[in-house]
Parts: sequence; structure tokens; C-alpha cells
Amino acid sequence: MAARGEFSSRTAFVLAAAGSAIGLGNIWGFPIQVASNGGGAFVFTYIVLTFLLAYPILMAELIIGRHAKTDTVSSILAVSSPGTRWLAYLTGYWGMLTASLILSFYSIIAGWMIAYFIGGFAELLGLVDVKAWLTEFSLSRNIIFCFVFYSLTISIVASGVSGGIERWSTRLMPALLLLMVLLIAYIATQDGAAEGWRVYLQPDFSRVLNPDLVINALSQAFFSLSLGVGTMMIYGSYVSKSENIAKLGASVAALDIGVAVLAGLLVIPAMYVALHNGVTIYDDAGNLIASDNLIFTVLPALFETMGSAGPVVAILFFSLMTIAALTSSISMLEVPVAYASESKNMPRAKAAWVVGGLVLLISLVIVFNFGTLFPLVIAFTTKYSEPLIGLLFCVFVGWIWHRNHILDEIKQGYPDAENGLFWKIWPTYVKFVCPLLVLALFWHSMS
Ligand code: PFF
Repeated sequence: MAARGEFSSRTAFVLAAAGSAIGLGNIWGFPIQVASNGGGAFVFTYIVLTFLLAYPILMAELIIGRHAKTDTVSSILAVSSPGTRWLAYLTGYWGMLTASLILSFYSIIAGWMIAYFIGGFAELLGLVDVKAWLTEFSLSRNIIFCFVFYSLTISIVASGVSGGIERWSTRLMPALLLLMVLLIAYIATQDGAAEGWRVYLQPDFSRVLNPDLVINALSQAFFSLSLGVGTMMIYGSYVSKSENIAKLGASVAALDIGVAVLAGLLVIPAMYVALHNGVTIYDDAGNLIASDNLIFTVLPALFETMGSAGPVVAILFFSLMTIAALTSSISMLEVPVAYASESKNMPRAKAAWVVGGLVLLISLVIVFNFGTLFPLVIAFTTKYSEPLIGLLFCVFVGWIWHRNHILDEIKQGYPDAENGLFWKIWPTYVKFVCPLLVLALFWHSMS
């Protein structure tokens, strides 16, 4: 069997895992949630929940992955007992299916981002019809840009861990941060932005304990940290045994939160600039209009009001979105590709093109039945599968895998782990608190 890939450094892992975590969920999902859930109150609850609940599950995935150093199905098997092998198979295959299904809808949205990005150039060149085709919903546009996005994702994954995932994550993530800071600075100079900053940063503490807000914040944290599909497990499997895994996980969670908060500083003030420029963003009842269309309606309408700067700002914004989507999609595809190449002995490049091609077919089925399948696949994966698989990961590390073996694994790269805060809190947390809260989240989202 060919040697396994490994991230070449701590920074490479943190950028790749943060690249997976930071995606459309941060830049699109988070600001929408903030705007519809009481501004700063949501930000506050989200940060608390990420550290209290999402981080422990992230650690469960990273630790299982680094221990087993193989694909996700075999990794879960490695920490199962003879009587729970069936559960390990179920968890592993279900996670792989979920990662593939998330990729199948995510790529459609990511394709739109590329189309809007090119749309900015079309506008600069005065190609009105081309811009209209790029930015209006149509079968042809959806299919073509889905293909484009898959080609990018598959080519990166086909090049392997260090030559593909690491190389592109370490290039694209700094570019993403730079673009974001530039855009925040520009939007802050526009009239109306100050009101957005105020709404965003002032928490209405009376809403902090609202059950819907808490549940929304929890699912957002789950999706945002790419939990419950095995992505973090497979990235964890490429981490060297000499690294302090608890610290690496904390850096990834902190970066994910940091970028979500920054995205809010970009999108919420932008909404208020749009409002100032005459774009309607709230209905009479004070609810955000077409909240899911924020990125594709409110922001483009805002860019239109910015005169000659508009297309340039649009190009920067949609390149930011495309980069964020790409560093996430490669991590989703890596889950089934690692399985095909490690458990089924398929050469990596072939595995990437075959598996990527199959998932592309699912995307095409969704594109052709958009109205019914798109929301269905999103609900199945993010509302049901991710929390339940996250729960199963907790069951494995909390109840099945031997506690001493877990400690031995953490001690590699963190010899004093036994006396640290992490070991005092985390085992009990994943055993009791996380499963109970995930169940609560699940029941609530079912009702
Ligand atoms: N964390 C990504 C985002 O916030 O956009 C989404 C994601 C990536 C979910 C990878 C699941 C996954 F495996």
C-alpha cells in the first residue's frame, strides 16, 4: 500500500482544518442567523456553544482519526469493541454518505458563487446579457458551474494530502482573510454601516436563552465546524503523533469562530448600507426578507448602488465565497476518496475522479429536481445526520473506546495531558453532556 499522506507542519494542519470549517456556513449562514436571531445575542450564544459543545466533538473526531491513521470507516472500527463493530460500520458509512450528500448540494451553491464572480467581470466589460445569464437561476448555468466547481475540487483532492489539500489550503486561507479584511474596511466607510455595527455588536441579553436561538446556534456550530461526517477525523488522521492535538483543535475552533464573527462584520454592516441606499431588507414585521437569498439578492443590489466600485467589490466578495467553499469541499470529498484509496486500494487520483464523478451525478439529479430535492438533502444531512453521527462519535469515545487508550493517544505530543484542564473536563463532557445536548437538539429540530 502506498505511504499515507501527512500534513507537513502544525500550521498546515490548522489552515487545512480551518479551511474545512470556514466556508459558506460562516460567511453566508452565520450572518443570516445573526440577522434573524437578535444580533449580538446570537453571536454570544454561538461562541459559548462552540467551545462548550462543538469543540469536544471536534476533539473526539481528531483523536479517533490520529489514533487510527486510516480512512474513517476503518478508524471507527479501530476504536470499537467486538460487539460494536456493526455500529462502527453504520457510523462510518453513514458519515461517508453524509459527507458526499453535503458536497452534492454545497457544490451547487459554490457554482453560483463562481458564476457571480465572473458576472462582476461581465459587468465591467459591459456584457449585459452575459451578466444576466450568470446571475439568473437557470438549468444551464447551474449545470455548467457545478461542473467547474467539481473540476477544481477533484483536481485538488487527486493531488493528495500535501501536494493538493495542504498546498491549496495554505495558499487560499491567507487570501481569504486578506480579502475579508479589505472588504470589511471598505464597507465600514460607507454610509449606514455604523448602524449595522451597532446592531451586530450589541447583544440583546433577554434573547440569549431563547430555545430557538440556542438550537439554531448549536446546529450552526455543528455545521460550521464540519462535524458529524468524518471530515475532521480524516484530517486528524494526517496529523503527526508529535503534535498536541488538544491545542490544535482549539486553534481550529478559534479560527472558525473568528472568521464567522468577521463575516458578520462584513455582511451585517453591508445590509445596513444597502438599507441606507434604498434596498429593502426587512419586511413590515421587521423580519429579514428572503433571508436565504441575502447573498444573491441584497448584496448584489447593494453592489449595484455603488457605482463604478460595484463590480470590483462584487468580484472581491464572490472570490472570497468561492475560496471559502473550495477549502471546505475538498475536505468533504476527502472522506470517501480516502476510503476508496485505503480500504479499496484504488489509486488516489483515480479514486478522486471516480468518487467525485459519482457525487457530481447526485448534484445533477438535485439540479434537475431542484425545488424538491435541494431542501430535502439539506435537511437530511444537516438537521438529522450530522447531529446523530456526532452523537455516535461521542458514544464511541465516551462509552466504547477504553479511557486509558484515549489518554495514551492524547499523551503523544502532550505528555503531561493527564494533569491538564482538557483531560479533567473533556472525557465527562463527551460521555454525558454532549450526547444529551445533541439529543435535545435533535428532538427539538424534529418537532
Ligand atoms: N464547515 C463548512 C461551512 O461552514 O461552510 C461546511 C462543511 C464542510 C460541512 C465540511 C461538513 C463538512 F464535512
